[in-house]
Amino acid sequence: MSLTGFRDAAVRPLGVASAVTPASLLALKRSGAPITALTAYDYPTARLADEAGIDMLLVGDSLAMAVLGHEDTLAVTMDDMLHHARAVRRATQRALLVVDLPYGSYQISVEDTLRNSLRMVKEAGANAVKLEGGAAMASRVRAVSAAEIPVVAHIGLTPQSVNRMGGYRVQGRSEIEAMTLLDDALALEDAGAIAIVLEGIPRELAALITARLHVPTIGIGAGPKCDGQILVWHDVFGLSFRNAPKFVRQFEDAAALMRKGLEEYRTAVSERTFPRDEESYHLPANVNLPETEEPELSVWSE
Ligand code: KIV
Repeated sequence: MSLTGFRDAAVRPLGVASAVTPASLLALKRSGAPITALTAYDYPTARLADEAGIDMLLVGDSLAMAVLGHEDTLAVTMDDMLHHARAVRRATQRALLVVDLPYGSYQISVEDTLRNSLRMVKEAGANAVKLEGGAAMASRVRAVSAAEIPVVAHIGLTPQSVNRMGGYRVQGRSEIEAMTLLDDALALEDAGAIAIVLEGIPRELAALITARLHVPTIGIGAGPKCDGQILVWHDVFGLSFRNAPKFVRQFEDAAALMRKGLEEYRTAVSERTFPRDEESYHLPANVNLPETEEPELSVWSE
């Protein structure tokens, strides 16, 4: 068995030709080519994103809101994340698969962080894990990296800090806050982070952090100067059922498409135009059943 072969590599378009690795993300930063990233939570959407040449797929803890209908990301569990990450793994051949460590799985101790990161790799096939927080999380990033698990860090508007922040607010607007975030980014890079997600910060600060780091920054609500961009799948396709923040661009209206399909399906079933004869199975010609009598209409309407 080849250890280097890659299934289907020839049909994977765009960006790097074969499976994306931390080294290829670094190479993309150095070449100035933008890194494309998107969240994914299930097999069909992950497969579409992977086949479209998206470089990084993140099983985000936004799973909680986007898919499971929670108010925020805090409730999602390791089991939830593992369940969805496995489905995304089965669909993903080329993209780097990053899985979020959910709230509570890494805050208590370095040991917890390591144990839960190992589970993401061993039980879901993650290529990397992501965790939120600044310099205070550097010890976790160092320990997980030392265990050969690449870590993506996440600073700025960190949704797991919603209670401390008092809502989802843009971070790093004052000089002192901005410089703290720059220090956080440098500390996380020094601890071994392979990339840093910058969420909800002024574009000027994101540009400064991106220029100062050797590893790539992936922005969401952080302006155009980051090394890459990430969005939540459901925001891209209009499936979020929320007033999206201003940084979201809806690229297609999948909800409208689905509503149309649902209406057509409901009508076809109601009017008995589905299924048609060619959508039905037939008995072999040599098998005869007793004649069925058409039921009286009154039987159905009673
Ligand atoms: O969980 C998530 O979707 C994320 C992205 C917003 C970066 O962390």
